Amino acid sequence: MTVSSEDPQIAAAQAYEALHVPAIFQEWAPLVLDAARLEAGQRVLDVACGTGVLAREAVERVDSSGAVTGLDPNPGMLAVAGDLAPSVEWREGTAESLPFADQSFDAVVSQFGLMFFADRAQALREMLRVTKPGGRLAVAVWAPLEDSEAYSIEVELLELLAGRAAADALRAPFILGDRQELADLFEGAGAAGVSVEAHTGTARFPSIRTMVEADLRGWLPVMGVVLDEPVIQRILEEAETALEKFVTADGRVVFDSPARIVSGHRP
Ligand SMILES: C[S@@+](CC[C@H](N)C(=O)[O-])C[C@H]1O[C@@H](n2cnc3c(N)ncnc32)[C@H](O)[C@@H]1O
Repeated sequence: MTVSSEDPQIAAAQAYEALHVPAIFQEWAPLVLDAARLEAGQRVLDVACGTGVLAREAVERVDSSGAVTGLDPNPGMLAVAGDLAPSVEWREGTAESLPFADQSFDAVVSQFGLMFFADRAQALREMLRVTKPGGRLAVAVWAPLEDSEAYSIEVELLELLAGRAAADALRAPFILGDRQELADLFEGAGAAGVSVEAHTGTARFPSIRTMVEADLRGWLPVMGVVLDEPVIQRILEEAETALEKFVTADGRVVFDSPARIVSGHRP
């Protein structure tokens, strides 16, 4: 795999790792691994690993006596992940069709990917298939949009200034936060001892501009929405007022970031 930021997929993954990972994803990795009760010596799979923030934390927990595999369909994400953690086995593939034998892992973990899977039930059945009997599954998803004030405001702004498709692209990560729906999904796929825990994290961006620009130039194109430059500039301008209440004394943007961690085990 050639690592070069000339490649737009790799450039996007580098931007994701530099900005989104420290701002909103990193803090969840220890909690997801706690829910998986990960221990030294175990074999663990991170599904929808992205640039590998969860897999890197898992490497620390399983120690040199264990082994970590990360899987994602996006080669740009995997190229960045591979550079950052060569000791992890990185595999290209989708959650719905895992390229591993039955009962290959002591634990299977995943954060903030399930909402994007084309067939979530099939993906969960696959995640359980590759888990050893009694092995744990732990998956994080964002809480519903209405629980996330800052993103609700940004979605409203997009709806107003860029239209429905742009707003829907930013709504997409928040569509799977209903606790009963999550419990039903995991139990329906065959998981036992399912629990859905609510946690509130803290998002931290360097500025309003960086936060919103990352969504407009980084996230929306991934969802197939490319905005014209004048529209981007207008949204960035309006966001300075709309999101002002989340700016701290040192100029950073800090807000609550609630999520669910669903865990259970293979019977
Ligand atoms: C928001 S990112 C989360 C990445 C990483 N887990 C993290 O915490 O930074 C969502 C990831 O889901 C991956 N993804 C989307 N559809 C997938 C599928 N069907 N199977 C596995 N991964 C998928 C994307 O490629 C992307 O890397």
